[in-house]
Amino acid sequence: MTATETDPNPLAAGLERLPVAPTNLVIFGATGDLAKRKLLPAIYNLAHEGALPGQFNLIGVSRGELSNDAYREMAAESIRAFSRTPPDENVLSGLLAELRYVSGAFDEPGTYDALGAALAELDESAGEAMSRAFYLSTAPEFFSVIVGALGGAGLSKSETGDVRVIIEKPFGTSLAEALALNAKVLSVFDESQVFRIDHYLGKETVQNMLAFRFANGMFEPLWNRNYIAHVQITAAEDLGIGSRAGYYDHAGALRDLVENHMMQLLTLLCMEPPVTFAANDVRDEKVKVLHAIRTPQAEDLAQMSVRAQYAAGVSGGENDVGYLAEAGVPSDSHTETYAALRLEVDNWRWAGVPFYLRTGKRLARKVTEIAVTLRPVPHLAFEQDGSLGVRPNQLVMTIQPNEGVSLSLGAKIPGTRMRIRPVNMEFLYGTAFMSQSPEAYERLILDAMRGEATLFTRNDEVEAQWRICDPIVSAWSADARALPQYAAGTQGPVEAEGLLLDGHQWRAV
Ligand code: BG6
Repeated sequence: MTATETDPNPLAAGLERLPVAPTNLVIFGATGDLAKRKLLPAIYNLAHEGALPGQFNLIGVSRGELSNDAYREMAAESIRAFSRTPPDENVLSGLLAELRYVSGAFDEPGTYDALGAALAELDESAGEAMSRAFYLSTAPEFFSVIVGALGGAGLSKSETGDVRVIIEKPFGTSLAEALALNAKVLSVFDESQVFRIDHYLGKETVQNMLAFRFANGMFEPLWNRNYIAHVQITAAEDLGIGSRAGYYDHAGALRDLVENHMMQLLTLLCMEPPVTFAANDVRDEKVKVLHAIRTPQAEDLAQMSVRAQYAAGVSGGENDVGYLAEAGVPSDSHTETYAALRLEVDNWRWAGVPFYLRTGKRLARKVTEIAVTLRPVPHLAFEQDGSLGVRPNQLVMTIQPNEGVSLSLGAKIPGTRMRIRPVNMEFLYGTAFMSQSPEAYERLILDAMRGEATLFTRNDEVEAQWRICDPIVSAWSADARALPQYAAGTQGPVEAEGLLLDGHQWRAV
């Protein structure tokens, strides 16, 4: 399939000039990994696309002692190393010309005095009070501290420009923490100023789930318990934890992927059609889905959840060590690198349909997909003999890689007999649009600066996600039994088979 409308500039990334007020963007944690690998390159690509406002300044805040020039050099190096397009040096130097760096501890009032002075100076040279966006890309324990200090320094409100705060994940590591963080954030900012990041929502293919469901009338009549047998949401990764043991061993697969990214995929798949795509209309519908998922009870956990850890194995022809032998991981760690759940969405549309979620590090390959399996036909009148693997229709939305949508159908095998085998009808982003998608962070940074919150999680949404995951996280942390293992480079633990009902099968990773 190819797109039917011709894009006037088919290679453009779709970040057309949307109105964004003149903005000073402040990155806390400016020398950290996320800033260097994702945020600065994303901002560069926005500049390259002409999507930034005419008046735009970047201020980095971090503990390290750096001059403006040294930070400018560090930012340029990061952009050259990680930008999705080779940087145009003119755009790059234009972007970084006015860049400021504020050095200081996040709990020191002096840091915010210096930041306030830098903002005032930039406003003065612009001749107007510019909007401010504070991006919290620090270790999560600083989120509350920074928010409180911004409030204390009077930087969270402005009489003239808009002030917004963008908060990275994880938004708490438990329900209690998420509630406390929300309370703190909302004591300083109004919810309309707050943009909680889940980078999955910035992915084109995740947004396409909404387009797919709500721009095509043909799916709506089928999109319910009468026609859908089960749904599998998979976020498999082939990589291990790399150098992130410090973070990962405290997080684990459930907090790292399920509580946020996978819950978001589930809500987009299950939500009712919103009245409009305005932020609150969409988020109201997503929250209703989360409310329809029963809070797991201790006695349910054995049937509806599985956790495991990767053991040594071979992937991509390389020998991989097991999780416990990774640098920085305690040899008696009980942290799961694989988590699978069976959930039910108890409402009229979905009651009785099992939703299987699984994620893991060091599985056979990287794939994020949602597979919706329809109910089988009530009676197959065709020849079984010679028919090949006749299966119920399956709609697979692939988030990454090979982004696209595929629908499996039974088709007649050419010949004189009436024999059937499955074939796929496919839409692939790469061939249909012939364009490079923007990185998730490009879309999200732009939307936050515009005050467009549809692709950000609201306070009640994040709390509802935690209400589902918290009992599992707590039970797992209190359980001292050895975890099931799976060899690196495989499909995951055999124990995950136990979650499947009615002869359902996991799709191959
Ligand atoms: C992050 C997790 O949020 O998402 C990582 O912390 C994970 O552990 C990553 O690898 C996956 O993101 P993506 O965009 O590669 O699917």
